[in-house]
Amino acid sequence: MFSLFRKRVPKEHWAEINGEAVRVVHKETILHAALRENIDFPHSCRVGGCASCKCRLVEGTVKELTDIGYILNDDELDQGYILACQSVPTSDVTIEVDVTAQKQRRTVPGRVVLQERLTHDITHLKLQLDQALNYKAGQYADLTLDSLPGRARSYSFATPCRTDATLSFFVRKVPGGQFSTAVNEKDLLGHTVMVDGPAGKFWLRPSDAPLILIAGGSGLAPILALLKDAVEGQSHRPVTLLFGARSQQDLYRLDDIRDLALKWSAAFTFIPVLSQEAENSDWTGARGRVTDVIPGLSLQGSEAYLCGPPGMIDAAEARLIEGGVSRTNIYADRFTTTRDALDADASALAI
Ligand SMILES: Cc1cc2nc3c(=O)[nH]c(=O)nc-3n(C[C@H](O)[C@H](O)[C@H](O)COP(=O)(O)OP(=O)(O)OC[C@H]3O[C@@H](n4cnc5c(N)ncnc54)[C@H](O)[C@@H]3O)c2cc1C
Ligand code: FES
Repeated sequence: MFSLFRKRVPKEHWAEINGEAVRVVHKETILHAALRENIDFPHSCRVGGCASCKCRLVEGTVKELTDIGYILNDDELDQGYILACQSVPTSDVTIEVDVTAQKQRRTVPGRVVLQERLTHDITHLKLQLDQALNYKAGQYADLTLDSLPGRARSYSFATPCRTDATLSFFVRKVPGGQFSTAVNEKDLLGHTVMVDGPAGKFWLRPSDAPLILIAGGSGLAPILALLKDAVEGQSHRPVTLLFGARSQQDLYRLDDIRDLALKWSAAFTFIPVLSQEAENSDWTGARGRVTDVIPGLSLQGSEAYLCGPPGMIDAAEARLIEGGVSRTNIYADRFTTTRDALDADASALAI
């Protein structure tokens, strides 16, 4: 018996990436196909949050999985830029991608010289590198522990670049997470860590615009690095720093923030916001989600830098835009995990 209906063959397309032809299977993103074919395509979060995989669509059409207008500015959109991790071809495509940033990355070995608990679930990991690694405050690196080979994870530098080749990272324990559990629960002093970086575009843009900085949990790391770098450069920009945490025991590095506020040469407002602090505690500061505070701020003409869990960033971006901050003046680093990347791959297959 022959079926009256012919089975539909899933469509494949070809992507020509910087002149190299890559087969893209049904519902696959351009980034996924490129990495499958061992092309060194720049990327990081794989969920449309960091713009590392930005590339130009020279020919062809794609279906976008998320609204890339939040990440790319109007000029970039007009020039045909897309995010490879969020683009599924709907025809054969030609892609141009700048791989120079990828080429500036180096892998340098280092040793753990300090493992210091900052809160019950955040640990400061300090490394001494064999050679200095130059980076901009706000960027991140991919770290691999000798005890977890093949499990590289991204962490933001928690200080500006130092001349003594030491690096600091704040690592929050993710339930069920391999790397972050090792850092928070095992003795790693003296262990070797491979550092691959720098990466990312989360650095302070030169401007006089007032600064709104929003950090959630370990997202304070790059925000402190940005501020420490700017205070050395005598920035005159007014700062409002929002720090979201669950309770008082989740707040950390408050001395560093006080010290920055004293040295800052313009107005510096620090607002810690606690979401799960006991009602009857001695806390007199703001309560609720960190994003709830945004509508009460004076936002006109501000530039915003956001760092922390993806949900917090999405909510903060929406509130800032509602409050009149231009989308092009919002910079964000989403601390995505393997789980987010797996969820993103699953939703690509579901379209
Ligand atoms: C640009 C960037 C910068 C970052 N900076 C920081 C930083 O400064 N500080 C910080 O604390 N974090 C940061 N992160 C997050 C960090 O990279 C790690 O994702 C985080 O520490 C978790 O890593 P892990 O190995 O502990 O967890 P993973 O082992 O990757 O697991 C993460 C979650 O996914 C689940 N999971 C893993 N594998 C599977 C699977 N196969 N199926 C289903 N579920 C699975 C786990 O149970 C867990 O809940 C950053 C992320 C990015 C993208
Ligand atoms: S890798 Fe595509 S936006 Fe982060």
